[in-house]
Amino acid sequence: MPSGQTRRGRFVTLEGGEGAGKSTNLTYVRERLEQRGIRLLLTREPGGTGLGEKIRALLLDPNNADMVSDAELLLMFAARAQHLQEVIQPALQTGTWVLCDRFTDATYAYQGYGRGIELERIAVLEQWVQGERRPDLTLLMDLPVEMGLERAGRRSEPDRFERQTLAFFERVRNGYLNLAQAEPQRFRVIDASQSLHEVSEQVSAVIHAFLADQQT
Ligand code: TMP
Repeated sequence: MPSGQTRRGRFVTLEGGEGAGKSTNLTYVRERLEQRGIRLLLTREPGGTGLGEKIRALLLDPNNADMVSDAELLLMFAARAQHLQEVIQPALQTGTWVLCDRFTDATYAYQGYGRGIELERIAVLEQWVQGERRPDLTLLMDLPVEMGLERAGRRSEPDRFERQTLAFFERVRNGYLNLAQAEPQRFRVIDASQSLHEVSEQVSAVIHAFLADQQT
């Protein structure tokens, strides 16, 4: 790389169903990258900006039970447009890596496979809001739905998504697995049903391999 030129940051996302241990593993990925001296920004969707967090509150509020699927979809992308322009793109351009808790794969999985919105319509919004921007690496924390709900259920009062049926979450899980199968070069599927220690070993191996790839 010529001197004086900043190498662009990498965009890493973490995905998974309810109770898949995303938060714990986000911390783990962060530690692995920071140990290697990488400047990192940690953020989430929906959210990540002042406006985005307000939209998140609308999306998760169980009192908004009458929200139609198209409104839900458009709110996700409204939050994402703000997030990309205000936070993600500027960071990547200055060489900071971005680690994001969920991104557009969640929209395909939840609004597409879960709610039944045609994937082609989501693709139109993806192109509109993101242009060519896509994650460089996506870790999918996968585990059986019932196990995930059992883990998530122990935490707190369920939000608007956590109140969905088992069948909805089965569609979300299958959706994620379809996405991962369609793009094996970007996705790494982590078996999140294993013990915390085993999961952290899998995550570590993925990060290690990704970093090795970046140097070649
Ligand atoms: P979280 O619990 O991982 O913070 O995510 C909040 C909820 O938002 C989660 O149930 C998944 C849902 N979601 C979508 O339905 N579509 C999306 O595009 C995103 C980013 C999240």
